Order: sequence, then structure tokens, then C-alpha cells
Amino acid sequence: MPVNDRSIQPIRSSEDIVRVRKIARERAVAQGFSLVDQTKLVTAASELARNTLDYGGGGEVTIEVVYEGARKGVRLVFVDQGPGIPDIELALKDGYTTGKGLGLGLSGARRLCSEFAIESKPGHGTRVAITRWR
Ligand SMILES: Nc1ncnc2c1ncn2[C@@H]1O[C@H](COP(=O)(O)OP(=O)(O)OP(=O)(O)O)[C@@H](O)[C@H]1O
Ligand SMILES: [Mg+2]
Repeated sequence: MPVNDRSIQPIRSSEDIVRVRKIARERAVAQGFSLVDQTKLVTAASELARNTLDYGGGGEVTIEVVYEGARKGVRLVFVDQGPGIPDIELALKDGYTTGKGLGLGLSGARRLCSEFAIESKPGHGTRVAITRWR
């Protein structure tokens, strides 16, 4: 799957999350996403960026435009070197949180995207990749 417009952004503060939201929105607009689809992507990106900051201790995200035949999409890959997620299935359940959240970030992000992949190794960190196709 060819990619272009790749941008790697740090996630170390709330301001970084605002910037990630903005870039995700710009990429979605540039690919001709509807307003609803832009918002779905940006909402998912925001939740994952927040998790990267709050639970992963910060990290980075790669934002890129992807193509598959005539299909265009936007992909974001969040990576941190935090404590990891011991039980991914549990973390994906609606309402599960180890913090003060609603426990809806991961499950919500999965529902809002066309593709969702999470890898985590306790003690080593977490990688979450989402793609939304136009
Ligand atoms: N990057 C991460 N590193 C370590 N643990 C994580 C990470 N992302 C999520 N988790 C774990 O998964 C749980 C569920 O995440 P989720 O985003 O669904 O809920 P939340 O962040 O607790 O609340 P909400 O997102 O609704 O405010 C978190 O409480 C945390 O324990
Ligand atoms: Mg969350």
C-alpha cells in the first residue's frame, strides 16, 4: 500500500494533541472526506493521542495518506514506550478504565475507523494503528 504526506509528530502535551487533531483533519479534508468522516477520524485520533499521553507517558504518531487502488485513506500510528497493556481484550471493553476516564476511548476509536490494530508488550509499550478510508 503506497503512502505519502507522512508526518511524524511528538505527543508530549495537550498542545501536541491539538496539533495532531489539526493535521488529521487537514489530511482528511485533502482526501475529500465528508465532514462526518473527518470528525470520526479526528475523534479517534484524539482519543488515541490522549491515551498515548496519559497512559503511555508520551510518544509519537505517524500520520499518512494511504492508497489501495482507487481507494484513499488516512492512517495514524501511535507509538509509546510506556507500561503497555496487559490484557488488550479487556482494555477494548466499553467502560474499562484503569484511570479516571469513561473507558470508551479505545473501543470508540475502533468503532470510528475502518481498520484498527493494537499491539502491546507489557513493560515495552503500545502501538495502535488506525485507518479510515474515504
Ligand atoms: N497507550 C497506552 N498505554 C498503556 N495503557 C493504555 C494505553 N491506552 C489505553 N490503555 C489502557 O486501556 C484502558 C482503556 O483505555 P480507554 O481509552 O478505552 O479508556 P480511558 O482512557 O481509561 O477512558 P476514556 O478514554 O473514556 O477517557 C486505559 O484505562 C488504560 O488502562
Ligand atoms: Mg482513553
